[in-house]
Amino acid sequence: MNILEVKDLRKRFGDTEVLKGIDLSLKKGEVLSIIGSSGGGKTTLLRCLNFLETANSGEILVNGKSVYLARDGEKPTVTLEAQLSFGLVFQQFNLFPQYSVIENLMLAPKLRADAKGNTERQEIYKDIRAHAEELLAKVGLTEKADAYPCQLSGGQQQRVAIARALMLSPEILCFDEPTSSLDPELTGEVLRVIRSLKDSERTMIIVTHEMEFAKHVSDKVIFIADGVIEEEGTPEELFENPKSEKTRTFLSAGKNDI
Ligand SMILES: Nc1ncnc2c1ncn2[C@@H]1O[C@H](COP(=O)(O)OP(=O)(O)OP(=O)(O)O)[C@@H](O)[C@H]1O
Ligand SMILES: [Mg+2]
Repeated sequence: MNILEVKDLRKRFGDTEVLKGIDLSLKKGEVLSIIGSSGGGKTTLLRCLNFLETANSGEILVNGKSVYLARDGEKPTVTLEAQLSFGLVFQQFNLFPQYSVIENLMLAPKLRADAKGNTERQEIYKDIRAHAEELLAKVGLTEKADAYPCQLSGGQQQRVAIARALMLSPEILCFDEPTSSLDPELTGEVLRVIRSLKDSERTMIIVTHEMEFAKHVSDKVIFIADGVIEEEGTPEELFENPKSEKTRTFLSAGKNDI
C-alpha cells in the first residue's frame, strides 16, 4: 500500500492557479525528490502537504486513509493526526531563537503531552528529553544540547531543525531546499544526515537543487514546471534520459534555479 497518495491537488492564490492538479504516490521508505524552476510551485506543494496552505481542491491519503479532501469552495477540517503525519524542514531552519537546542526539540512534544492533559507530566518530560538526546546524537550534535541557535553554524542549525522535525515521528518528512542557504562545505554534513535517514527507511520528499544528491538518494524524481508535473521517473530515467523538452532545458541550464 502507498504511504502517501495525492490526487488532483490544486492551489490558487487569487486568480493565479499555482498547483494545477498534482498527482503523486509514495511507498513507505521511498525518497521522492522534486526539482523544477523557480516559481513552479514546489514550496507551495510542500506547504499544502503540511497544511500550512489550504489546497483549494484535491485529496491527500496517508496509509490509504483520506486525511484531506477539498472540493472547490469548501474548506475541509484537518485533524491533528493528519498534521502529525507530515514534518517539514525549511530552507531557513526556523529554529526558535529564544530556546536552546534541546528546548527546540522538546517544545512540540511537550505541548502535545500538555494538551492531552497527562498527569504523569514529569515522567513524560523525561521520556521526551531522552528521545531528544537520542535524535541529537543521531545528527551528531550531542555537545550542542544547551547552545542557542545563534551560537551554531548554518549546517548545525539545519541538523537541529531535522532532529526537531523527527521528534513527532512524522510518517513523511519533507525538506524544502534544505541546503540552499548553506555554504558548500556545510552542505555535505546536512546531506549526510538526510542520507542516514534514508538508510533507516524514513519516507521523505525533498525539494532540492542539488542534482547530484537527488540522483543518488532518490527512488523517484519529479520535475515540476508551472504548477504541473511535467515529468516523473527514476533518477536514471529523468536525469539520463529526460523525455520532456522542458526537463531537458531545465537540466541543461546548469544553474538550475534560473
Ligand atoms: N502566499 C502567496 N501569495 C501569492 N502568491 C504566492 C504565494 N506563495 C507563492 N506564490 C506564488 O506561487 C508561485 C509558486 O511559488 P513557489 O514558492 O511554490 O515556487 P517554487 O517552485 O518553490 O520556487 P523556488 O524554486 O523559487 O523556491 C509563484 O508564482 C509565487 O509567486
Ligand atoms: Mg521554493
